[in-house]
Amino acid sequence: MITPRRLGTPLSPSATRIMLLGSGELGKEVIISLQRLGVEVIAVDRYPNAPGHQVAHRAHVIDMTDGAALAALIEQEQPDLVVPEIEAIATETLVALEAAGKLTCIPTARAAALTMNREGIRRLAAETLGVPTSPYRFASSLAELEEASAHIGFPCMVKPIMSSSGKGQSKLDSAADVKAAWDYAASGSRVDSGRVIVEGFVDFDYEITLLTVRSRAADGTIETQFCEPIGHLQVHGDYVESWQPQRMNPVALARSREIAAKVTADLGGLGLFGVELFVKGDEVWFSEVSPRPHDTGMVTMASQVQSEFEIHAKAILGLPVNVALRTPAASAVIYGQLDAAGIAFEGVAEALAVPGTDIRLFGKPESFARRRMGVALASAADADSARQLAREAAAKVKPVR
Ligand SMILES: Nc1ncnc2c1ncn2[C@@H]1O[C@H](COP(=O)(O)OP(=O)(O)O)[C@@H](O)[C@H]1O
Ligand SMILES: [Mg+2]
Repeated sequence: MITPRRLGTPLSPSATRIMLLGSGELGKEVIISLQRLGVEVIAVDRYPNAPGHQVAHRAHVIDMTDGAALAALIEQEQPDLVVPEIEAIATETLVALEAAGKLTCIPTARAAALTMNREGIRRLAAETLGVPTSPYRFASSLAELEEASAHIGFPCMVKPIMSSSGKGQSKLDSAADVKAAWDYAASGSRVDSGRVIVEGFVDFDYEITLLTVRSRAADGTIETQFCEPIGHLQVHGDYVESWQPQRMNPVALARSREIAAKVTADLGGLGLFGVELFVKGDEVWFSEVSPRPHDTGMVTMASQVQSEFEIHAKAILGLPVNVALRTPAASAVIYGQLDAAGIAFEGVAEALAVPGTDIRLFGKPESFARRRMGVALASAADADSARQLAREAAAKVKPVR
């Protein structure tokens, strides 16, 4: 039985305290939602003045992959809930502390541990749960990669088992690409585990994020609800545009929901998950899952009654959520376009003059050419028109020194 968490007064003994591990643009929005409920928020990241640091009650800078440092901070802050916002965390420490009854991790420490590693989640989905995925193999050396890719066949994808946002990931068209893919994977891995996954290339019609929510139902049990599917466009493994709803045929939608329900039920706990799926006709393949809000889900700030961030905040507190669509909408990423600290943005007024649009600027202290610095949002009568407006608005924002 789940009971709603009692909400208190921040910075007082009655406070409900939540620690975010990772305080980027997604964490920032979760924090804003928690702040609106009077939750005391402790934001943690690896660098100072991260977006979420700027809207929290307290901010800490630590190396979150350092288990001892992470455990010491949790001991010091004694949060009611620990909410991972990124993958690069010493999750084995969270698992140990959770097992010892010393913390509650969202959705569960096991989910955070399994999903930070492509091998963990892929083996769970394909081998334990029997969910359809692309064919795959793992390799820990160039020789193993040569053999694995020949076995899977070309084209195929090679990715470090620990990486995100397309880092270190490449598409191989023939055996001639294997050596370059191995070297590139080593450069893009978060932890140099020297291990990669080889996946058969899925020639999908489109890909979606199915936001799936586990929240408390009126009778105290956990219910699973689905947001409308989000379509998205990825360039070099990084999202550039997303829209909601993605039109789907009923068979593919039913299969997508079935897969998402199965995977999230196994991961357990409370909260919102971003289930990534590839779709071709009636066929659906599971790709991966974030046990937390998803970057492509930023569109929900314009499209839904409650954004994915508000839904996550409420669900983890044991509160009811509303997953309804309000209007078709789209998001388009605003990149840094230049390498500099403390940049400014021109053209924001022009962007906001595009009908139906809104802008988020994340406040990241340092810009890189391909760093996500903001997002343009647009709503319209249909998702295609919204995409056009969001792209138009994003293009008007110019990062400058
Ligand atoms: N097996 C595959 N077949 C086709 N496209 C793929 C495959 N794997 C990844 N992609 C493309 O690359 C994107 C990023 O891959 P993903 O596994 O989600 O990595 P990340 O963890 O960095 O998001 C996907 O959204 C999809 O567009
Ligand atoms: Mg992904």
